[in-house]
Amino acid sequence: MTRELAANTSSTVPLRMNIIGAGKLGRTLARLFKDTGLIHVGGIYNRNIESSQSALEFIGAGRVCRTIEQLSKQPAKLWMIATPDDVIHSCAEQLAELSAINWQKSIAFHGSGLKTSEVLAPLKKRGSRVASAHPAHSFANPKRSLNTFKSTVCTLEGDTPAIEGISTLFKAIGGQTTTITAEAKPLYHAATVMASNYLIALLSASETLLEKAGIEETLANAILSPLMRQSLDNGLSEGASNALTGPIARGDINTLRAHLIAIEQRAPGLRNTYTTLGAEALKLTQQKKALPEKEIAAMEKCLFED
Ligand SMILES: NC(=O)c1ccc[n+]([C@@H]2O[C@H](COP(=O)([O-])OP(=O)(O)OC[C@H]3O[C@@H](n4cnc5c(N)ncnc54)[C@H](OP(=O)(O)O)[C@@H]3O)[C@@H](O)[C@H]2O)c1
Repeated sequence: MTRELAANTSSTVPLRMNIIGAGKLGRTLARLFKDTGLIHVGGIYNRNIESSQSALEFIGAGRVCRTIEQLSKQPAKLWMIATPDDVIHSCAEQLAELSAINWQKSIAFHGSGLKTSEVLAPLKKRGSRVASAHPAHSFANPKRSLNTFKSTVCTLEGDTPAIEGISTLFKAIGGQTTTITAEAKPLYHAATVMASNYLIALLSASETLLEKAGIEETLANAILSPLMRQSLDNGLSEGASNALTGPIARGDINTLRAHLIAIEQRAPGLRNTYTTLGAEALKLTQQKKALPEKEIAAMEKCLFED
């Protein structure tokens, strides 16, 4: 299969790929794969027919399957399961029961950052090579992702022939590929969730506090947009501890107290968010040894005991 994919780079005969779950990630990858000419999109199966139809329009190729059984009529060597994590295994079980499909030497993969290739065991038993492939990319807007996917790190895990085959594909769409062990996936995924999803949660928390302070939305955006971008740029280029500024880095304990009182009064639901992230900032300050331990201990007490 790897050789087939590699050979396909200079061949005019693309490999056929069926898709189960052409949502945000599924339809974006399918369109990018198709545009390389390496892949011919076969069957598309989503829960709702309208959703499959809109995926087909986005991808610009494929055939809508109304039921999972109809995929039997779409012979394919590549199978992408891009459903929500919790249904990947049951989709694999249903596919494995379809006796008309020849799984020998096929590759089946899913896009979950947490789940491993083990969830595709029903297909492996039928002869398929299996893998998980997680692009560290936020597919919130598939159209935008078509232009921003390039350079995305795609972390692969599973059977070696499957990894090799998928790696060829992800590289062809501009991705960088790396591998990971099954055991490391939960921590790896927690890290990407914090960096991506929780950054948005943090934005939302800051917006809430500005709203409570009576600052209207446009001004709030003008305040947060450069501030967050500068902080992120500094953190990524200088390292987290060098980039940290603010009351904790300076040891301004009275400022912390004032924040906690205001949050308690106007947005008590955000107190834990403030103190938990404060503890991480405190750890960075401690590592830098910029303040005496006594001041660190006093700030810790202020955050968690006072
Ligand atoms: N979104 C991201 O930024 C991102 C990034 C990296 C990895 N991932 C991974 O990519 C996978 C898909 O995530 P997503 O964000 O693309 O999800 P999504 O936009 O919600 O799309 C999920 C798709 O799966 C279909 N589906 C749901 N249940 C199904 C079932 N039982 N049988 C067949 N199809 C079913 C849905 O069909 P309907 O539309 O008909 O409901 C939908 O098309 C997940 O494993 C996720 O962890 C996502």
